[in-house]
Amino acid sequence: MIKQVGVLGAGQMGNGIAHVFAQFGYQVVLYDIAAPQLEKAVTTIRQNLERQAKKGAIPEALVGETVGRIRTTQALADLAAVDFAVEAVTENEPLKLEIFRRLDETAKAGAILASNTSSIPITKIAAVTRRPEKVIGMHFMNPVPVMKLVEVIRGHATSDETFAVTAELVAKLDKEMAVSQDYPGFIVNRILMPMINEAVFALYEGIATAEDIDKGMKLGTNQPMGPLTLADFIGLDTCLAIMNVLYDGFKDPKYRPCPLLVKMVNAGYLGRKSGRGFYSY
Ligand SMILES: NC(=O)c1ccc[n+]([C@@H]2O[C@H](COP(=O)([O-])OP(=O)(O)OC[C@H]3O[C@@H](n4cnc5c(N)ncnc54)[C@H](O)[C@@H]3O)[C@@H](O)[C@H]2O)c1
Repeated sequence: MIKQVGVLGAGQMGNGIAHVFAQFGYQVVLYDIAAPQLEKAVTTIRQNLERQAKKGAIPEALVGETVGRIRTTQALADLAAVDFAVEAVTENEPLKLEIFRRLDETAKAGAILASNTSSIPITKIAAVTRRPEKVIGMHFMNPVPVMKLVEVIRGHATSDETFAVTAELVAKLDKEMAVSQDYPGFIVNRILMPMINEAVFALYEGIATAEDIDKGMKLGTNQPMGPLTLADFIGLDTCLAIMNVLYDGFKDPKYRPCPLLVKMVNAGYLGRKSGRGFYSY
């Protein structure tokens, strides 16, 4: 029975993951190396909960209760007693492998160790631990409190029991699960990023303007926003990094990043976060 959950990394994803676990009654230990990140995470969680309460999505009393279930720490040793851990530190392979090695030494026997990685093979992460059968991918979508989906990724050695416990947790968090085997991009990025990349190719080849590409896909296929607008939201550097993961992982030229995408990233046109991408902000 999962009661205490550790969340590693208190950034954009980590704060959202801590938020939903605490909201649904789990005791959360939120760990980060940076104290300011921990402070910022708790402030963000409180603000997001207050917004949910204002909209009537959650009762007012749940705001304080939820925040009260989150304990922050800069010491990994404080995760020794957790039943389940979700790692959401920076997407950097050597860093994640080191964190999992240390987490494996720290966490009690029997604890399940999940990673929110977007691109690093779960199988590789599991292999640095002495409990590969208890390692699994739990890929939340951004923003976590709002998005319904969690991709659950089974590593090569993930046990049926680990999978079952994780599936039950997803349901307890009032989320829906899509199960993927451990191959580059899992399900969502595998399909979404080539679509975005193809939209960039359409622009690059002069097939249509950015506005018409987005209008075509938005109104023609009933998507909430066009692919180039979405790329600006995600960040062009992130889109390029994921295309490179697919390209390197499958060694298949169909995943070749569009040269225009590469050039825009080189120019520092990263989308909304840099004020300029396919559109100006
Ligand atoms: N941002 C997204 O839309 C998104 C979506 C799905 C999955 N992810 C994945 O989630 C993970 C986190 O992404 P993010 O966007 O929240 O990043 P972020 O940069 O917002 O947060 C990363 C956090 O990790 C912390 N950190 C770095 N090194 C650490 C260490 N040695 N020990 C402890 N903490 C450390 C940083 O201080 C920071 O708070 C990545 O694996 C990413 O691929 C991101």
